Amino acid sequence: MPEAAAERALEGLAATEGLLADVVGHGPRAVTRPAGQTLAAGGKRLRPLLVFCSSPTERPLDADLVAAAASVELIHMATLVHDDILDAADLRRGRPTVVAAHGASRAVQVGDFLFARAFSVLARTGSADAVRVLAATSLDLSNGELLQGRAGHDVALTEDAYLERCRMKTASLFAASCRLGCLLGGASAEVERRLARFGTSVGLAFQIFDDILDLTATADATGKTRGADLRDGTVTLPMILAMRNEPGLAARIRDAHRGGDVDAVCAELAAHPGTAAARERALGFIADARDAVEAPLDGIDPLPLAAIADGVVDRYS
Ligand code: FPP
Ligand code: MG
Repeated sequence: MPEAAAERALEGLAATEGLLADVVGHGPRAVTRPAGQTLAAGGKRLRPLLVFCSSPTERPLDADLVAAAASVELIHMATLVHDDILDAADLRRGRPTVVAAHGASRAVQVGDFLFARAFSVLARTGSADAVRVLAATSLDLSNGELLQGRAGHDVALTEDAYLERCRMKTASLFAASCRLGCLLGGASAEVERRLARFGTSVGLAFQIFDDILDLTATADATGKTRGADLRDGTVTLPMILAMRNEPGLAARIRDAHRGGDVDAVCAELAAHPGTAAARERALGFIADARDAVEAPLDGIDPLPLAAIADGVVDRYS
C-alpha cells in the first residue's frame, strides 16, 4: 500500500478502535462484557479499512468517517454473534463463541446490542443517506442468512443461488463499507457505483475463500472448527463444483450432514479439483474488483484498494 494512504488508513483504524471500545463499553454489563470480549478477540478490520480507502486521500480523517468505519465493524460483529448461534459454532477467532460461553439468549442480546450500537454511531454523521445504506445492507444480510437456512442440506443448490446468497450475506457489507467512504467523502454517484462493484466482488471472493478454508484449513489457522459447513448442512461452492464433476460425492456430503465422517469428506473435498475450480472463481472476482477501480476515482487512490483485493487472496493462499 502506498505510504501516505497506508498512514492515513492506519490512523483511521486506530481512531476506530478507540471509538469501538467506547461504544461497546457503554451499556448494561450483561452485554458490554461479552461484547468487549468479542471486540478484544480481534479481526482484520477489513470493512473499516474499506471505508477509509474509499474516501479521497486528501480528505482529512474526520469523526464522520471514523463513525462509519466503526458502524460497519459493529454490524459485522453483530452478524457473527448471531451467525454462531444459528450454526451452533463453538469457536471463533480461536476463542469460545458468545453462544458457547454465555448461552443462546445472552448471545441474541449481545448481537442486538451491537446492531443497535452500529446505528447509533452512524447516526452521529447526520447523513440520512449513510443510514439508508446501512439499513438496506442489514436487510440484505438477514435475507442472505434466511436463504442459507432455507437451502440447508440441499445438495442440488445451484452456483447462481450460492452466489446470490453470498452477495447478500457477505458482499453487501463490503459494498456498503465502500459506499459509506464515497458518500461521506463526497465522491460522485458513478464512482460510488464502481466502488460498490469493487466491494461486492472482493466480498464474493472473500466468502468463497472462507468456504474453501472451512474444508482445507485447521482450527489453528482459521480460529474456527474445520468442517463446520458440512456439519451444519451448508452447501458451498467447492462442494457444488466437486459434485458437478463427480455426482457420487453428493451421497457422502449428505452423509456428513447427518453426522458421518466429516473429516474424511473434508479431506476428500480439499484435494478435489472442484475446490481448485472454486479458487479460480474467487480469483475471477478479484480480477473484476481490480477492473472496477482501473479508471480515475475522484481523488480516491486505487492502489490501496487493489492491495486490499490482493490481500484477500494472499491471506488464503
Ligand atoms: C458468516 O458467514 C456470517 C455472515 C457473513 C452473515 C450472517 C448474517 C446473519 C446472522 C444475519 C443477522 C443480521 C444482522 C443484521 C444482525 P459464514 O457462516 O459463512 O462464516 P463463518 O465460517 O465465519 O461462520
Ligand atoms: Mg457461520
